[in-house]
Amino acid sequence: MPAIDPADFARTMAHVPTPVTIVTTLDSTGQRWGFTASSFSSLSLTPPLVLVCPAKTASCHDAFTTTDRFLVNVLASRHAPVAAAFARSGHDKFTNSPMEPCELGLPGLPDATARIACTLHDVLDGGDHSILIGRVESVQAGGAEPLVYYNRLFTSPALTPALTP
Ligand SMILES: Cc1cc2nc3c(=O)[nH]c(=O)nc-3n(C[C@H](O)[C@H](O)[C@H](O)COP(=O)(O)O)c2cc1C
Repeated sequence: MPAIDPADFARTMAHVPTPVTIVTTLDSTGQRWGFTASSFSSLSLTPPLVLVCPAKTASCHDAFTTTDRFLVNVLASRHAPVAAAFARSGHDKFTNSPMEPCELGLPGLPDATARIACTLHDVLDGGDHSILIGRVESVQAGGAEPLVYYNRLFTSPALTPALTP
């Protein structure tokens, strides 16, 4: 099989709609870290596990792979500007953001669609990303319409009843 062109791979994956989250943690000095992540997924029900993947090049990478806990904020459609701010490196993401102390003492969005608070269960190698596996300690569902990332754009879902089998 010929090697896949990375640009083709990225272009194709851009057509896979994903949730938009901001994942936060605190390091041992109390410094806040956070990044916008679409690589969030549930992993296991028993035990309750989720995963999210920070790039090894991200400035927050080491904070997340050495922390004991992290908080996943699932963004609502109104959060597109916060998502864009937390996807931009090299600035103070938290000052003037709507983040407040939430579960496990971690920065969170009070009006998130959902928040999933985790203790760090494992860190696996995922090529140019690490795979953080979190054990879910608490969940909070706000119910606001979610933000979706599709074709490199923020959008929101057209909600219709699912067909029953
Ligand atoms: C919608 C969206 C989803 C993203 N998902 C991820 C992701 O899952 N993993 C990742 O490492 N970076 C992801 N990024 C890019 C990071 O948010 C961005 O590189 C971030 O600034 C990295 O953190 P840093 O500022 O600590 O370097 C995403 C960006 C956007 C706009």
